[in-house]
Amino acid sequence: MKVDTYKKTSKDFRFPPNLDDYDHAYRVFDWKTAHKELDWFDGKLNAAYNAVDRHLHTWRKNKVALYWEGEAGEQKKFTFEELALASNKIGNILKDFGVERGDRVFIFLPRIPELYFSFLGILKIGATAGTLFSAFQEQALADRLENSGAQVVITNSELKLRIDKIKSKLPELKHIITVDTQDFQKSFEKASEDLHVAHMDPEDYAFMLYTSGTTGKPKGVVHAHRAVIGQYATAKWVLDLRDDDTYWCTADPGWVTGIAYEILGSWTAGVTAVVHAGRFDPKRWYEILEKYKVTVWYTAPTAIRMLMAAGDELVKKHDLTSLRHMCSVGEPLNPEAIKWAIKVFDKPFHDTWWQTETGAISIANYPCMDIKIGSMGKPFPGVVAAIVDEQGKEVETNAEGNIALRPGWPLMMKTIWKRPQKYKSYFEHGWYISGDRGWKDADGYFWFIGRADDVIKTAGERVGPFEVESALVEHPAVVEAGVIGKPDTLRGEIIKAFVVLDAGTKPSEQLKTELMDYVKKHLAGHAYPREIEFIDKLPKTRSGKIMRRILKAKEMGLPVGDTSTLEEY
Ligand code: WT7
Repeated sequence: MKVDTYKKTSKDFRFPPNLDDYDHAYRVFDWKTAHKELDWFDGKLNAAYNAVDRHLHTWRKNKVALYWEGEAGEQKKFTFEELALASNKIGNILKDFGVERGDRVFIFLPRIPELYFSFLGILKIGATAGTLFSAFQEQALADRLENSGAQVVITNSELKLRIDKIKSKLPELKHIITVDTQDFQKSFEKASEDLHVAHMDPEDYAFMLYTSGTTGKPKGVVHAHRAVIGQYATAKWVLDLRDDDTYWCTADPGWVTGIAYEILGSWTAGVTAVVHAGRFDPKRWYEILEKYKVTVWYTAPTAIRMLMAAGDELVKKHDLTSLRHMCSVGEPLNPEAIKWAIKVFDKPFHDTWWQTETGAISIANYPCMDIKIGSMGKPFPGVVAAIVDEQGKEVETNAEGNIALRPGWPLMMKTIWKRPQKYKSYFEHGWYISGDRGWKDADGYFWFIGRADDVIKTAGERVGPFEVESALVEHPAVVEAGVIGKPDTLRGEIIKAFVVLDAGTKPSEQLKTELMDYVKKHLAGHAYPREIEFIDKLPKTRSGKIMRRILKAKEMGLPVGDTSTLEEY
């Protein structure tokens, strides 16, 4: 394989990076030093306090923490002090509702300022925050709210309608707070700005996110307050954030990137963040970069490919010279996308690898390091990563295996909500097994190959095939469905469903559209199959499990491999 390397030159070091010697840092790093940079209350901490309130004792008090821009171009800005006080108010409102430490409060909102106030407010009173992506529909919401036993949901009047439909399934849900009502506005105005921030044990729960595996319903990955230690360290050394930065992370806090690098890690680093609540649109995105003079930009491969497809002319219409550092996460970043960035922005994207479970960036390309284009880079100092075989033995250089991390880095998930066995199943032979396959080269760079399981990554979002299959079989015409990720040049993968229809139903193009809409409406707007194929019978094991591997091999015209465990097919 021919590898192109982007060699860093003096042009890349006009601003010396926060981390200037990776090898040295990797050798001497210890997490205790990282702890020291945060504010502690006698061995206790609070991630939200670190993100916002700590700055009130410094010159950053009146610094802009958030430039917010809505879908229609409306603009607002908030200083660190304003964020602190608004989140105190939310904390007090929640307390008035009887919310206590450890209670689950879920946020189901688009990226409006109240989302950020709420997230911080929940953590400040010691409750556990959950976030729900605003594209979720009834089924996705019911699964998450039921399993988490959330006592409160914070939403708006439009999204509330979806919660109303499933309320009867949620006995533990006591209050729905609707932030765009007069009632709320009144209580927000009245609420006190004084709040005692809960002193949390580093191991106490801070937030949880549902994520998908191959089988079963999504699982609740729980993170402790200590996660902020790693989120901050990585924000500093990987995203290279500093005080004079204007930083734009394009992720939604419905996913872990939005929590770690739009709220906790990045604000702990004290930067001014930009949040754009609108949809993806190449022209708008360049306008935002230009208007706010964004210096550090964290985005995702599908967005980069879509920008690339929108053409170079559009880029040239904007002055993007403020950009200093660019990073990417969520799915493989293809070499073409990096080469395009070098051409049009005069700098590469730095790929970063991590997962909802790992809590913060775990493998990355650093500003101080040359980039082997197509590689995910090297483990963060304090993180031990390896490529291991099924027995947990490290494989040879350049050989394929499971990407694994040595447990014990402080940002790792705390547990899987109500599923301790599931949590344990991640660990084998002393390693955390990521579920990704990859290899490591002689220089210690990690390369991604693919998932070891059937998890789908579409436009960077993680979707479990089982969820989509379950949504499809709810439709009266569907007997069975098998769902796979099909490679796609723009979205990385698209969701493809193989559907067995009821004997009385005739396949048609119209029915395909109906099924797509059905999944959009019941499960989630982003998790529907863009392709559907009707099939007479699904390949299954003798015990009746759908063999998605076979569907995928057939789809891609590859050999189907070992079929000895298959029932007659
Ligand atoms: C999965 C985790 C935490 C960031 C958002 C995604 C894939 C992530 C990369 C990358 C290739 C990547 C992996 C991983 N992934 N980053 N740089 N190159 N694949 O979090 O939703 O928990 O998904 O995303 O398959 O396991 P997530």
